[in-house]
Amino acid sequence: MTIGIVGLGYVGLPLAVAFAEAGQRVVGVDTNAGRVNQLRSGESYIEDIPSERLQAVSSHIEATTRTQRLSLCDAIIICVPTPLTANREPELGPLIGAAQVVGDALQAGQLVVLESTTYPGTTRERVLPILEETGLKAGRDFFLAFSPERVDPGNEVHHLGNTPKIIGGLTPACRDRAEAVYGIICEQVVPVSNPEVAEMAKLLENIFRSVNIALVNELARLADRMQIDIREVIDAAASKPFGFMRFDPGPGMGGHCLPVDPFYLSWKARELDFATEFIELAGKVNQSQPFFCVEQAERALNDQGKSVRGSKIAVLGVAYKPAVGDIRESPSLKIIDRLQSLGAEIAYHDPYVPELKAFGLRHTSLEEALDGADVALIVTAHPGIDHDHVAATVPTVDFRGVTRRDHAVARPPATDLPAPRVAQFELTEVAA
Ligand SMILES: NC(=O)c1ccc[n+]([C@@H]2O[C@H](COP(=O)([O-])OP(=O)(O)OC[C@H]3O[C@@H](n4cnc5c(N)ncnc54)[C@H](O)[C@@H]3O)[C@@H](O)[C@H]2O)c1
Repeated sequence: MTIGIVGLGYVGLPLAVAFAEAGQRVVGVDTNAGRVNQLRSGESYIEDIPSERLQAVSSHIEATTRTQRLSLCDAIIICVPTPLTANREPELGPLIGAAQVVGDALQAGQLVVLESTTYPGTTRERVLPILEETGLKAGRDFFLAFSPERVDPGNEVHHLGNTPKIIGGLTPACRDRAEAVYGIICEQVVPVSNPEVAEMAKLLENIFRSVNIALVNELARLADRMQIDIREVIDAAASKPFGFMRFDPGPGMGGHCLPVDPFYLSWKARELDFATEFIELAGKVNQSQPFFCVEQAERALNDQGKSVRGSKIAVLGVAYKPAVGDIRESPSLKIIDRLQSLGAEIAYHDPYVPELKAFGLRHTSLEEALDGADVALIVTAHPGIDHDHVAATVPTVDFRGVTRRDHAVARPPATDLPAPRVAQFELTEVAA
């Protein structure tokens, strides 16, 4: 088969490589000519795809900006960004643009799949009319489905191949075609009744995470005020083998998905006079979490009799999650912005992010970042960094809990002693 991929980013490039590795031909289209040139010279810009892996299949992948090449494909998969506008409304420009170029190239018999995360109804209400302007009819002349991407950049266990793929076809024939195509690269497909179910399932997954992260972030702030170690609380609660799922507090939410996608649903809900209160509340809590981090940095300086103005602050990790260089919506940016505006001198260490142009900053070595620092902030804990060494060198605020000693150690009950009445944990003193 020939598979067309529109948008060769975090989602599209791994997909292109997976199809190529499965022996299919891939036509990858992107509006970013720089990226296309990089791919043509065998250079990957996505951490999960090492350049060697790309080079091994480069004879199967044609990277191009020429959208008419899509007319050669058996299936076309759209993986373009779905951000929010400045007013936090869905920005469907890239998606509509992609649907238009697919429409221009559309041939009878082709399958078109949308993977970009979006609100329920997008495939049917926005993409379908553009494709049917050609005079071809979905379900009869061409096939249309929605299949949400579930890629988790940096995850070494779950990848495209072993993560079940949800598929919602516009008609049963559309679903069957999409199942056959994804069956080439995915161990398990999960067919659902229609595109709207598939669209909303993806949003449910992200909203579930957003709400739970907000819950634990809010409790972390309360625990801080009560001088209770929230991570010890979570360790203890997580010993329950049923009915509890662990979420850890952090500096706030980042990335393209969690801070953005839930608002696609709340925007759509407003059309129906429906207020999605959990989504709004979770967004509010998570968006304010970086300010709590700033407050903690201020406190760490205050403990030394210092003010933010004139202090040197080392920020460790500016990407939004470990082992990736993605800074979209990263809470580090808000933290740096606030601390800079309060007069701090910032040095940052993040081997995945060479520079932060907006702040006039470049990545420095760990030693340079820590040299003369009044406080270090662990915002994202990348692998391979000795955070214990950081904490031993400079007063450190650890937003990820990587320098903390495990307090709660699950033990089997001692058989020669009466079983404890409440829990079998060694509860040690809580750090004030
Ligand atoms: N990154 C993730 O972890 C992730 C996970 C699940 C779902 N998603 C969803 O997948 C979609 C894509 O996200 P991403 O992270 O891959 O984005 P990305 O920014 O990494 O890549 C998108 C690519 O599309 C290109 N592009 C933009 N408009 C285009 C157009 N009209 N035609 C052709 N190419 C175009 C861009 O140049 C870019 O290379 C989004 O809807 C996102 O919410 C992302």
